[in-house]
Amino acid sequence: MEALAKENVVAVIGSGAMGSGIAQIAAAAGHQVRLFDTRPGAAAKAIADIGKVFGKLVDKGRMGAAEADLARERLHTVDALAQVSDAAIVIEAIVENLDAKRTLFAELEGIVNERCILATNTSSISVTAIAAPLRHPERLVGMHFFNPVPLMALVEVISGLATDKAVAKTVYATAQAWGKDPVHAKSTPGFIVNRVARPYYAEALRLLQEGAADPATLDAVLRDCGGFRMGPFELMDLIGHDVNFSVTQSVHAAYFGDPRYTPSVVQQELVNAGFLGRKSGRGFYRYGEDAAKPMPNIEAPQPRPSTVGISVRREVVNSILSPMEARLNEAGFTVGHREPLHGAEKHEAPAFHCNGAAIFLSDGRSATERAAANNHANTVVYDLLLDHATAKRIALARADQCSDEAYYSTVGMFQAAGFEVCRLDDVPGMAVMRTVAMLANEAADAVNQGVCSVSAVDIAMQKGVNYPRGPLAWADAVGIQHIVTVLANLAATYGEDRYRVSPLLRRKLAANPNGARFHA
Ligand code: NAI
Repeated sequence: MEALAKENVVAVIGSGAMGSGIAQIAAAAGHQVRLFDTRPGAAAKAIADIGKVFGKLVDKGRMGAAEADLARERLHTVDALAQVSDAAIVIEAIVENLDAKRTLFAELEGIVNERCILATNTSSISVTAIAAPLRHPERLVGMHFFNPVPLMALVEVISGLATDKAVAKTVYATAQAWGKDPVHAKSTPGFIVNRVARPYYAEALRLLQEGAADPATLDAVLRDCGGFRMGPFELMDLIGHDVNFSVTQSVHAAYFGDPRYTPSVVQQELVNAGFLGRKSGRGFYRYGEDAAKPMPNIEAPQPRPSTVGISVRREVVNSILSPMEARLNEAGFTVGHREPLHGAEKHEAPAFHCNGAAIFLSDGRSATERAAANNHANTVVYDLLLDHATAKRIALARADQCSDEAYYSTVGMFQAAGFEVCRLDDVPGMAVMRTVAMLANEAADAVNQGVCSVSAVDIAMQKGVNYPRGPLAWADAVGIQHIVTVLANLAATYGEDRYRVSPLLRRKLAANPNGARFHA
């Protein structure tokens, strides 16, 4: 399907943060743009601001001066909706309110020609519901941009029940022609990104509630071990707790109270207090000139241990244990392969040994529970790393029955391998492992429920919220078997439906126990 040609007029309704960004990229892509806002002067102000942005792009050498002038000339304000009658597409970015959007589109139907595409930038309202009262609901589609529009590459192209496939394809191709990375999705609560991202906040809030560590330490672990651009607490502070809490509440309600999306009382209290984050000067952190920079808690330097061993490894996690082995080798540890703790049948093989400590990659159980199961008190677990070769931090949890000597030897081992060590309290699944498992689970469910494809969900999370890797590519890297184990252990510990394993993960595994993957 072809993109809308440059000769086609684009109308944008609503000239706020989103509408002005959409107008900017449409004009830069060569379209005549008509911008309308009910607030007097708002559209003109937006166009003046976009002109300044083009000026800055010219200064930075990212846009030619003549090109910027032409793009400026393509932007026009309109005083009345009737003046968008020549548009080939109208993109709506007004208030997030179903009645307001329905009223607008009903009026537009009487103005535009019959081939004109009607697109909504809604982030949370059903596209099906917005289209329902129209005479031609098949021409309405979701075109969900991300903020700030000129910088964020993702566009979710959302089909409601009535949306014509050809309309969705044209919008997809047009988004591509505008330099974006579009994905197709079905109109379902949260679409892709606002649904699949929920666990990033929810698990962090849980970890905090259970005293795993303070926000600064957990943020540092998600950033430096997980490779996320921002930790969940600093990100929620940036988004605003009122906004983030209300998105969670709306997804939770839209899924009829599915415990997967249960909001957090921790965040509710922040909202109650008016601690909304950066914009109010205080959220999880304090902001302002004299606010101290949040620092993670790290373990003090420990002596380098003399003996380190590497166990017989289970194949499923080989891909993530081998790079750790390589890093320990590089640190000069002489590693010898060892048998499982007390015999292969009854007890599992730890990944590494160090002065009597058995060191495991987190599998969703606490270190304490694992120590008891293996009848080996000196048990330490470590959290998932995105990139073993370059990670500067590692998170450890020690079993309650672990000796200081065994634990601090383990700390010394990882420090000698160049890691700064953060200790988490012994919560099941730790921080990155638990978060990644839940993101992969949610992504798998979105695919399983026909919301989007495997590649769409991975593109969406990378381009829409800057995740370092798509959740399903991450499941491939960790091993689908290990992800399922982590989730099943979390479900067993908490007894909550929240951690139920996606049927698609189980199906993939059953079809191919040793080599299940989402991506070839
Ligand atoms: P905003 O509040 O910055 O801008 C909305 C603009 O629409 C205002 O200038 C307002 O005067 C105008 N407006 C309101 N009712 C109107 C009407 N009936 N006709 C014409 N103009 C009208 O809002 P923002 O952030 O730009 O959001 C717009 C839409 O985009 C909402 O549906 C929102 O959910 C969605 N969205 C917002 C994102 C964000 O991060 N801000 C991200 C993705 C989608």
